Amino acid sequence: MESTRNKLINLLANNRENYISGQGLSEELNISRSAIWKHMKKLEEDGYQIEGISNKGYRIISFPDKLSENTILWGLKTNWLGKKIIHKDSVSSTQVIAHQAAQENAEHGTIIIADEQTSGRGRMNREWHSANGKGIWLSMILRPAISPYLAPQLTLLTATVLADVVNSCTTLKPLIKWPNDILINNKKTAGILTEMQAEQDQIQYIVIGFGINVNQKRDELPEDLKRKATSLKIETKNNWPIKELIQEILQTFENTYDDYIAHGFPEIKSKWESYGFKTGKNITIKTLREQYEASFSGIADDGALLVKTKDNTVKKLYSGEIDW
Ligand code: BTN
Repeated sequence: MESTRNKLINLLANNRENYISGQGLSEELNISRSAIWKHMKKLEEDGYQIEGISNKGYRIISFPDKLSENTILWGLKTNWLGKKIIHKDSVSSTQVIAHQAAQENAEHGTIIIADEQTSGRGRMNREWHSANGKGIWLSMILRPAISPYLAPQLTLLTATVLADVVNSCTTLKPLIKWPNDILINNKKTAGILTEMQAEQDQIQYIVIGFGINVNQKRDELPEDLKRKATSLKIETKNNWPIKELIQEILQTFENTYDDYIAHGFPEIKSKWESYGFKTGKNITIKTLREQYEASFSGIADDGALLVKTKDNTVKKLYSGEIDW
């Protein structure tokens, strides 16, 4: 259900040229005039500029750049994803908050987003650098009614969503490096971390977290990442509006996820493969026992990497060191 504050923002936003009286707002929203006043104060704290003139009423002057639950919600056209948003200025990791919330029964589709993470984490326990206001650091809580062994498909699905949105918003041509790195011009601009709580045959919840480098300049990237990471700004020379990108991602994710639940993995698989980095090219696989060259031929239905060795044997890989 739409919150009162969201309805208030909608009313003001749809009447930007006119003042709406406190009385009019209170009747429209069915709340007292002092409640309207309190909402206005809260909106101002969130960075909305609101003009209030006695005998005329209220008018919205500008919307905030800063993220908040309200600014993300306003204009978000999803049905279930992001209906509950937890936004924080700074957290250790949105994954940590998401796990806590999920264990306290947060609903399917809850999202946690932060301007900054002080201990952002990546796959294989790596650190994920998450500078204040420069990117999207977001975790989603999902409660899919699918078998736990299918969970990796959701990570691949997320990668296609991020690639689609980067492509449609910036016209850049991203590629996905298995399993989930989004590359632009061979450098990583986004990564995905999926963590699951499940029993033998039932998922309790999944937290899918993704980080996207959006507005960092090259000299703002940590020294050790400069060679292998990039941002949308570095690649396009433009700043990108974080809130709009988030909304686009949430809308695309919801559509893609609903489609996946209704029709299964085949479409995601072929989309993923259309973005596949080094498809048909040689890569080097390193395991504890051996090292060999193989050509990358795509992904299997369960998300595993499919490679063809020199003697034309197709192998399925779930992990391992890969030199791309
Ligand atoms: C990777 O490529 O290794 C995955 C990076 C995932 C980073 C995101 S940012 C939001 C969420 N919170 C975290 O601490 N990690 C994920």
